[in-house]
Amino acid sequence: MPYQGPKSHEFFERAKKVLPYGVNSNFRYHDDYNTPVVADAQDQYVFDFDGRKYIDYRLGFGPIILGHTDPFVNGRVKAAIDHGISFASTQELEVRVAERIIDMAPGVEMVRLTNTGSECTMHALRLARGYTGRDLVVKFEGSYHGAHDYTLWSTAGGNPEKVGNRQRPTAYKMSWGIPEVMRDLIQVLPFNDVEILGDFLQEKGDQVATIIMEPILGNGNAIMPRPGFLEFVREQCDQYGILLIFDEVKTGFRIAAGGARETFGVIPDISTYAKALGNGYPIAAIGGKREIMMNIAPGKVFQGGTYTGNTVSTAAADAVLEYMQTGQVFPKIEKVGRMIMDGYHEILTRHNVPHVINGVPAMFGYALMTDEPMYDWRDLHKADWDMYEEITRYMIEHGVLPEADGLEPYFLCSDHTEENAATTLQVFEDGLKHVLGK
Ligand SMILES: Cc1ncc(COP(=O)(O)O)c(C=O)c1O
Repeated sequence: MPYQGPKSHEFFERAKKVLPYGVNSNFRYHDDYNTPVVADAQDQYVFDFDGRKYIDYRLGFGPIILGHTDPFVNGRVKAAIDHGISFASTQELEVRVAERIIDMAPGVEMVRLTNTGSECTMHALRLARGYTGRDLVVKFEGSYHGAHDYTLWSTAGGNPEKVGNRQRPTAYKMSWGIPEVMRDLIQVLPFNDVEILGDFLQEKGDQVATIIMEPILGNGNAIMPRPGFLEFVREQCDQYGILLIFDEVKTGFRIAAGGARETFGVIPDISTYAKALGNGYPIAAIGGKREIMMNIAPGKVFQGGTYTGNTVSTAAADAVLEYMQTGQVFPKIEKVGRMIMDGYHEILTRHNVPHVINGVPAMFGYALMTDEPMYDWRDLHKADWDMYEEITRYMIEHGVLPEADGLEPYFLCSDHTEENAATTLQVFEDGLKHVLGK
């Protein structure tokens, strides 16, 4: 059975007439019958056009950390917009958001705001290149850093047959229209491999401007960094004068109040934030050391945008961060997320299905039919993703909505309850039994 009921499908047909493939982001298209559409949302739930209600674990691909339509955040936005929304001048909300980020994210000394994750990684890469005077960027296979040409290479959907050997992978171009000459500016390496990274840097470390990385592979089933890997990257960056960028668009203000900096205790030179920072309102930030950030300056590194620091987004982020600073968000997410992660492990073990669980309670993934620990994007191809999708399809039909593509993790928000977790586990086990023919 397709996910779309008759009314949802009719709506999607209408959307396809005016939007290529009926969506405003390629990531959202699944197929003509199983692309999720939404008519309404409330707290931890979304509703489709047939009136079906789903426990939402997609959460807009991660930003919704406090639940949809959060009254505290929406109330602040509503109050703020009556005082004007766009000024091309600094307003207090921007400063408040920057002050809160600096309070919450260890080692961040200064901030610039942007609107989207792609925008902030684009600017962060320019800053790193401008600061070091070097052009080469290192990224890891399977990580996604936004829609720009700089790093749209070898992201999670790349073709495993066209990426060359692990030792020195070939960068795989993820879109038509990316100039071939840009290949010379990017080096792709496997995540979590200190030997390969160390060898590469020994040869070319003095040409590398930055290593940009998702500290957890948030676009690859939430594969975790191996113990010591982040520390090794930090140490290598120091040795070769390379700037380390943690792309925390997914992990920031999600895995902890201070993101990966707090969770792993490793401090990069620059972090990029978006998603959970605004609970769905479009806002992003670049945060880093004063000495580096002060190079964003007239005549030096350019950063700008008409809508950066607008009232709608900054009022939302100010409210999100203020609420997080009360300490109420993360223990709740941790508890419910942990219940689901542990529950999946227990159910899969009981049914003798080999599996791996990746990630942390706020964003986690699982993979089936392999029990070898996963360390990089190539390891993901050992799993059975058809089986994953079949289970997920069953779950969606029964009111639980994770992303059908297993590369995208489950996301939790502080509105999810233990009752939601219990329902999810029940539906997951039913789906598993259905697929196993039990
Ligand atoms: C780690 C990471 N960086 C950057 C981006 C790009 O963010 P945006 O979609 O807001 O441009 C994403 C989006 O999913 C992401 O996951």
